[in-house]
Amino acid sequence: MNFLVTGGAGFIGSAVCRHLCANPNYRVTNLDKLTYAGNLASLRPIENAHNYRFAHADICDEKAVLDILKRDDIDIVMNLAAESHVDRSIDGPGAFIETNIVGTYRMLNAALEYWRGLGEERKRRFRFHHVSTDEVFGDLPFDGSMFVEETPYAPSSPYSASKAASDHLVRAWHESYGLPVVLSNCSNNYGPYHFPEKLIPLIILNALDEKTLPVYGAGANVRDWLFVEDHARALELIATKGRPGESYNVGGNSERTNLAVVETICDLLDRRRPRTGGKSYRDLITFVPDRPGHDRRYAIDASKIARDLGWTPKENFDGGLARTVGWFLDNKWWWGPIREQRYAGERLGEARKAAP
Ligand code: NAD
Ligand code: TYD
Repeated sequence: MNFLVTGGAGFIGSAVCRHLCANPNYRVTNLDKLTYAGNLASLRPIENAHNYRFAHADICDEKAVLDILKRDDIDIVMNLAAESHVDRSIDGPGAFIETNIVGTYRMLNAALEYWRGLGEERKRRFRFHHVSTDEVFGDLPFDGSMFVEETPYAPSSPYSASKAASDHLVRAWHESYGLPVVLSNCSNNYGPYHFPEKLIPLIILNALDEKTLPVYGAGANVRDWLFVEDHARALELIATKGRPGESYNVGGNSERTNLAVVETICDLLDRRRPRTGGKSYRDLITFVPDRPGHDRRYAIDASKIARDLGWTPKENFDGGLARTVGWFLDNKWWWGPIREQRYAGERLGEARKAAP
């Protein structure tokens, strides 16, 4: 089976490539533009694998995508390439519209042309799997309610609005042209190789640098945390066994307030890498002005994927977070150059600076 993974040099895409390449019956092409968030170092464990290859391309380039689909005889497309950071979408929505909406449209066009040229058996097996987010569903109150697959879309940020638009396009290509698509909407991922603009790696690295640990608002917003390797397993199942036209919610069953997440990281670091002077990393926690349009709570009901595809997360949050902190402590070769050359942790996404 031949996979095309777009965005495979990113956080989740690289986990998907590493996961798929462990199966010798799969061949994986990673198509990535290598934006600030793309990093070939995340593919180091598989860069010489017989079943892995890299293609430097932009998903907005329909011809390049079509050429790669044909050249590598692709059976399954997994579309992860995206601009992914909410705060950057507040500062500059343009790139999100281009890649997440127009790019998905170009991918769909290329995939449709390719799919129409396949023989009947290959045509039946082909899948276009679009990877989306629970943020398309918007803001949940603190009342125990959860997102199900049928929850109406109500995105709040330019990022989630662009992902919602792309999801609608993918469904339309199924309904209107018959392209066999599957979709998935997952909660917040965390784990190794996470770009340190997102909460968990940012807090770990700021703490190690003795910088302040910025908590937006009162830190009361709740996210559901999904270990990235659990997500990669779910994505393989959805891409290979999901029913065309369906979407699947993927969650980690681990709701936490942001403040609880930050405090747990501090406690793990206090044990693993105590500060000189004996103080706790918790002393670095700083409450900063809230993110504009900040969704209060996300929570996923993942019973459909458990029932239909037999997937449940293996990692609980305490175990996954301890593994993640340990990975960052052991892998400065990966994040050191990012912090020095790409992003050192300055505040992003304050709307007053934005010029859409
Ligand atoms: P990421 O920002 O770490 O990686 C994105 C990758 O896409 C990078 O390698 C980048 O170079 C590449 N890319 C960007 N624009 C491109 C273009 N025009 N053409 C080709 N490649 C391009 O993102 P991530 O966190 O790994 O997220 C992957 C997908 O999962 C995204 O679609 C995102 O919306 C979705 N998602 C992420 C999370 C999360 O918690 N990280 C949660 C839900 C959904
Ligand atoms: P983030 O990792 O950006 O993911 P998302 O916005 O997609 O959920 O943020 C996770 C939560 O942490 C979110 O509620 C915003 C909050 N947050 C902070 O409190 N401080 C920070 O420095 C960042 C980056 C996020």
